[in-house]
Amino acid sequence: MYSGDLGRKSRKKKRLATVVSSGASLKNKIKKMYFILFLCEGTHWIAEVIENIPNARITLTSPIELGDMSKFEELKMYCKRRVIPTHLSYNMLPTDIIQKQCKIIYIIRNPKDTAVSLFHYYRENPNLPGIETWAAFLELFLRGDVVYGSWFDHVLSLEEHKNDKNILIIFYEEMKKDISKSIKKITTFLGINVSDGEINKIAWKTSFSEMKNNATKENRDPDHTICALTSDRNLVFRKGVVGDWINYFTSKQKRVFDELFTEKMRHSELARHVEDCA
Ligand code: A3P
Repeated sequence: MYSGDLGRKSRKKKRLATVVSSGASLKNKIKKMYFILFLCEGTHWIAEVIENIPNARITLTSPIELGDMSKFEELKMYCKRRVIPTHLSYNMLPTDIIQKQCKIIYIIRNPKDTAVSLFHYYRENPNLPGIETWAAFLELFLRGDVVYGSWFDHVLSLEEHKNDKNILIIFYEEMKKDISKSIKKITTFLGINVSDGEINKIAWKTSFSEMKNNATKENRDPDHTICALTSDRNLVFRKGVVGDWINYFTSKQKRVFDELFTEKMRHSELARHVEDCA
């Protein structure tokens, strides 16, 4: 179920600055929101898993970035267990979310695949600046000059909280490898019992092909959005595979990327895990 319309008015062109600053201005406005999930990629997938948990009684709301403050009143109408999708980094979250120990699910994907995915998203999404070439986009990505900022800083913002009890970190590649195990992790984290049969059903309903098919059948609904940048779910389900980056990176681009990765992430355990998964 989607409440959807936290920010109907503010759905025009949104670049990083707007997205991030509207999130920051929501400080102290969050009350009793129980669950939240955020980037680095695979947000729709996680949200779909949660939506398909039987008897979970969780309301999926619109992204936190859609900051029409008046809509907070409406949240009172929904059940207290809510999922608030967001791509904001940990240090941009409203302080209440941290203080109230809201449960956070953070999904991380190999940044090379994230870059490729985002490149296509930019190309397809009329609400984002035009991008001429993959090479030009990669430069922006490496500089962190893309929506939601630098992948590296985003992950680093979570690093020191990775063992917090209220945080579950999921790796996209692990979800691809064993979706049932990931579903089990998510339901356990949320404190919801599910049978093996139910897990199989969730796995089927949240498969890439099923979600992509459903997206093509759905009517576009501006009130039904996980991403702050579009209500068109067709833009989201592209390939859904691991390792597509190999079809885009030249050897020089890979070298530059790896050097930056090593420099920025040298103390990061999360980054080491990403490397192991890739
Ligand atoms: P690709 O562009 O590589 O296909 P987000 O939901 O955070 O915007 O992430 C979008 C990426 O997640 C897209 O990657 C999309 O295809 C992928 N994705 C969404 N649902 C998926 C699923 N059920 N299985 C695998 N990948 C999925």
